[in-house]
Amino acid sequence: MKEAVLRLLKEHQPEYVSGEELCKVLDVTRTAVWKHIQTLREDGYDIDARPRVGYLLVGIPDRLYAEEICNGLTTEFIARQVFYFSSLSSTNDLAKKLSSNVVGVSNGSIVVAEEQTGGRGRLGRKWFSLKYKAICFSLILYPPVNPSEASQVTMVTAVALAIAIRKETGVRVGIKWPNDLLVGGKKLCGILTELGAEIDKINYLIVGAGININQEPGEFPEDVRDTATSLKIEMGVTVNRVKLLQAILIEFEQWYKIWLEQGFPKILTKWKELTVSLQCPVRINAVDRSWDGWAVDVDQDGALLLRLPDGQLQRVVAGDVSLRI
Ligand code: ATP
Ligand code: BTN
Repeated sequence: MKEAVLRLLKEHQPEYVSGEELCKVLDVTRTAVWKHIQTLREDGYDIDARPRVGYLLVGIPDRLYAEEICNGLTTEFIARQVFYFSSLSSTNDLAKKLSSNVVGVSNGSIVVAEEQTGGRGRLGRKWFSLKYKAICFSLILYPPVNPSEASQVTMVTAVALAIAIRKETGVRVGIKWPNDLLVGGKKLCGILTELGAEIDKINYLIVGAGININQEPGEFPEDVRDTATSLKIEMGVTVNRVKLLQAILIEFEQWYKIWLEQGFPKILTKWKELTVSLQCPVRINAVDRSWDGWAVDVDQDGALLLRLPDGQLQRVVAGDVSLRI
């Protein structure tokens, strides 16, 4: 019901809407309307109340509420169902639980959290996010492809994120193989794709992304202070997270459809245009060893082709390795 009150307030902006009208349209008492107004205020909405005039929505908080994400969102199936949390261990973990539920959640559903207390990267590494300063979300997908093709979704996501961030903010983000977005060599965003599958069938695919948005330099944990950046650091202004997330979801849907309908080569071409980790010297760190070489190309399966100092070409698959540029 508070959603309905909010919708009416938005529809009437910049005019006041009378308490009487709210009662009539929503078929509730004045006390009920007042309670919903109070709840909205507690959620951070700035609402002016004038005796005998009514209510005016003065300000919308910078929160990733479902109503805000969905407001004007033009996607067909991405984020049609939104699970919002003020705090959560990990959006990927919850997305996994939801997608394995007997009562299934729909393709494209999103889990979003203002803060993660157990945010994860690959190989069990930590992903840090300061409350209200980042965008952390996971999409639940059921792509009708073979499990061997699932890792391509990381590249689809990297392409969509890079394009949306460039369009929306003008910041020249580049993709670092296999799952990061960088600005000026510093990490802005990480992507974590996880899969639930049988030998020849994907049961669910979760693609999670963490994007640093409005952190100040001193707000990163010491471990990553020298290697991380945020859009605010790059641009010097605060970024509207809802608007950016909407742009990301729209872009993601487009590229995900291109991938399903036209195949991986289209994605790979765009990925190569946007990468900063090809035609440069790199170091690949695996658990027990590392290779220095020249990043030559990425093949049709998304594996990195590395020219070793002895001239041999080494094929490196994402998974258990990290890349240093
Ligand atoms: P990298 O190449 O960045 O070391 P990776 O991609 O090989 O990382 P991942 O497991 O994918 O390794 O990423 C997790 C790593 O990201 C963490 O070990 C940490 O160094 C870094 N990290 C964690 N939180 C953030 C953040 N908010 N911003 C930037 N970097 C972060
Ligand atoms: C990486 O750089 O290794 C990937 C980091 C991925 C972080 C995102 S934040 C949303 C989602 N939930 C998680 O626990 N991890 C991903």
